[in-house]
Amino acid sequence: MNDEPPRKRMVKPPAGGNESGRAKPARLKTAFGRTPSQQAWLERQINDPFSAKARALGYRSRAAFKISEIDEKFHFFRKGARVIDLGCAPGGWLQIAVERGVTQLVGVDLLPVDPVAPAHILEMDFTDPSCPPKLIELLGGAPDLVMSDMAPNTVGHRETDHLRIVGLIEIGAEFAIEVLKPGGAFVAKAFQGGETAEVIARLKKHFDKVVHFKPKASRSDSSEVFLVATGFKGR
Ligand SMILES: C[S@@+](CC[C@H](N)C(=O)[O-])C[C@H]1O[C@@H](n2cnc3c(N)ncnc32)[C@H](O)[C@@H]1O
Repeated sequence: MNDEPPRKRMVKPPAGGNESGRAKPARLKTAFGRTPSQQAWLERQINDPFSAKARALGYRSRAAFKISEIDEKFHFFRKGARVIDLGCAPGGWLQIAVERGVTQLVGVDLLPVDPVAPAHILEMDFTDPSCPPKLIELLGGAPDLVMSDMAPNTVGHRETDHLRIVGLIEIGAEFAIEVLKPGGAFVAKAFQGGETAEVIARLKKHFDKVVHFKPKASRSDSSEVFLVATGFKGR
């Protein structure tokens, strides 16, 4: 379901790869020490054109291309905008925001993130009640955009994984409704077929428009889809 890396990452990807892909997919010589799903993830990653493009362009994740496409459609990133990035590691979304002129931005993740100047980055659990006020304090005012690519580590138990994902979307949406500037926007990673009807209904009450957006960089075999809520009407 989650197309981002499992926590064990490959240190040295093989050389080569381009946007048009290879005629013959690369296979890893050894699977020693890897679970079958880690092995499958690595092989998919190596043969994935967006991962190759991310490496070539210096982006830290293929996820950078997802927010890039979202921004090309909705034009969120601009000089003067205040942006909060929930679940920002390893920093691909922050890189795109900065590249497009955003100077006031704060990210948070459970994992450490290398600096992406001038972003402030917090290493903590967003669900910790002390986190939201810290984000606003670091940002220096109400955000124009709250974006969340948060994805929980899956445990393999379908119902549990599902509840965790929905929980993160809900908590991100409540935060956005609490802190956004009027006219602001909320973007969140969600999953097709997920139990998101309640949160969508809630967003529709507070935003002019709520749509689903599936970027090309989002794997077609993944149920990942992004919720994009624009025109915040206030609490
Ligand atoms: C798909 S990755 C984000 C990729 C990022 N958008 C990028 O462009 O590099 C999802 C991230 O959500 C983070 N995450 C999950 N639950 C979280 C939580 N409760 N608080 C903060 N971060 C969380 C994970 O640690 C993970 O790094």
